[in-house]
Parts: sequence; C-alpha cells; structure tokens
Amino acid sequence: MPNKDLKLQDIKFKMCKRNDFLKIREINEDAFKGNETSPITFKVSERLHRTTIFIAEHDGKPVGYVYGMRSQVVPEEGWIRQVAVIKDYQRKGIARELQKRCIDAFRKMDGVKYIELSVKPENTPAINLYKSLGFNFSKTEPGYETIEIYGKIAIKDYYGHGEHRFIMQKEL
Ligand SMILES: CC(C)(COP(=O)(O)OP(=O)(O)OC[C@H]1O[C@@H](n2cnc3c(N)ncnc32)[C@H](O)[C@@H]1OP(=O)(O)O)[C@@H](O)C(=O)NCCC(=O)NCCS
Repeated sequence: MPNKDLKLQDIKFKMCKRNDFLKIREINEDAFKGNETSPITFKVSERLHRTTIFIAEHDGKPVGYVYGMRSQVVPEEGWIRQVAVIKDYQRKGIARELQKRCIDAFRKMDGVKYIELSVKPENTPAINLYKSLGFNFSKTEPGYETIEIYGKIAIKDYYGHGEHRFIMQKEL
C-alpha cells in the first residue's frame, strides 16, 4: 500500500525502454483484473511505439502507464490505446501526468495534428480524465453506424457485437 500522503512528486515518469513490456503487463493485470490485455500486444507496442509509451514508477515499482501510437495510414493522427494506474495509486493525478507526456510526445512529432482514443461509455473515470485534458466527443467514424448512449453518439459495435465505444479527439 502506498503512503496515503503520497505526492505526485514522489512518482517518476519515464519513457518506455526495451523489456518494459513486463512492467506494463504487471500494471495491466492489476488495473484490468479479469479483462487483461495480451502481453504480446505490449511487446509489439514496446518495439514499435516506445517514444509514445510512458511508465510511472514509485520507488522502482511500476504503478501506471500510457501507450500511444502514431497512425501509419493517417500521419496526422496519434492514437492513445490505453492508460492504466494500479488500484492503490489511483486518484493521485498519475494518469493525467502520463497522458500529458504522451500528448507532448505527439505534439513534438512533425505532422501529428490530433489525437484520438476510444472509451467504453460506462467508463466514467476515464471519460472524466480525457475531458479534463481537452478531449471532445467525436461523433462519427468512417464505415461505422452510430448509436445513442447516455445522450451521446457512440460508434456501434466498434470492437465487435455490443462493444460500442465513444471516440474522443483532441486537436494539437
Ligand atoms: C482511468 C484511470 C487510468 C485514472 O487513473 P488515475 O491516476 O486515478 O487518474 P487521475 O488521478 O490522474 O485523475 C485525473 C482525473 O480523471 C478523473 N477521474 C479519475 N478517477 C476517477 C473516478 N474514480 N471517478 C470519477 N472521475 C475520475 C477526474 O476528473 C480526475 O481529476 P480530479 O482528481 O482532479 O477530479 C484509472 O481509474 C484506471 O486505471 N482504470 C482502469 C483502467 C482503465 O479503465 N483505463 C482507461 C481505459 S484504457
């Protein structure tokens, strides 16, 4: 358990290095218990997108990560695939700081003009986080139908049957 007086200044934020996928996996297991992501995904991401992946550590313990990737088909687009903080360290500003670093990394890339991400309509913590960083709801996605959820337009079956998502976008 972290000290309840833990401050954001106690957390170290680092760009992803080789073999950090194991740290990301460890955080993912805690944050997404029962719905973990394959470690292969993280290994591939580490190899291809290291400069837009950041890890938060406390006294050497991995506690959070964000991973972004630049689109290879739309060079103006950055995509934030996932952000997670282990349960005992949530609500201390760690995810917001991770996201800021990822956004800055995209901003420094020549030609990236906006960032998008998808989020489950019921994931209020994540939606609030993204809104606090200036992400807005984006209403359409080429080739997909839409569906209204909680009064907002979501992309229908985005990740397969019944897996609707909001798409959110931030201009750089
Ligand atoms: C979403 C998640 C990454 C937030 O991490 P965090 O480090 O706790 O977030 P922060 O402390 O930086 O919070 C930043 C803002 O997000 C929002 N937020 C975070 N947790 C929230 C919660 N439980 N309820 C409502 N809003 C919340 C708030 O607006 C918060 O700002 P505030 O504290 O000034 O009010 C974390 O809850 C998590 O890992 N969840 C499981 C994985 C997940 O769903 N990831 C997102 C989809 S990929």
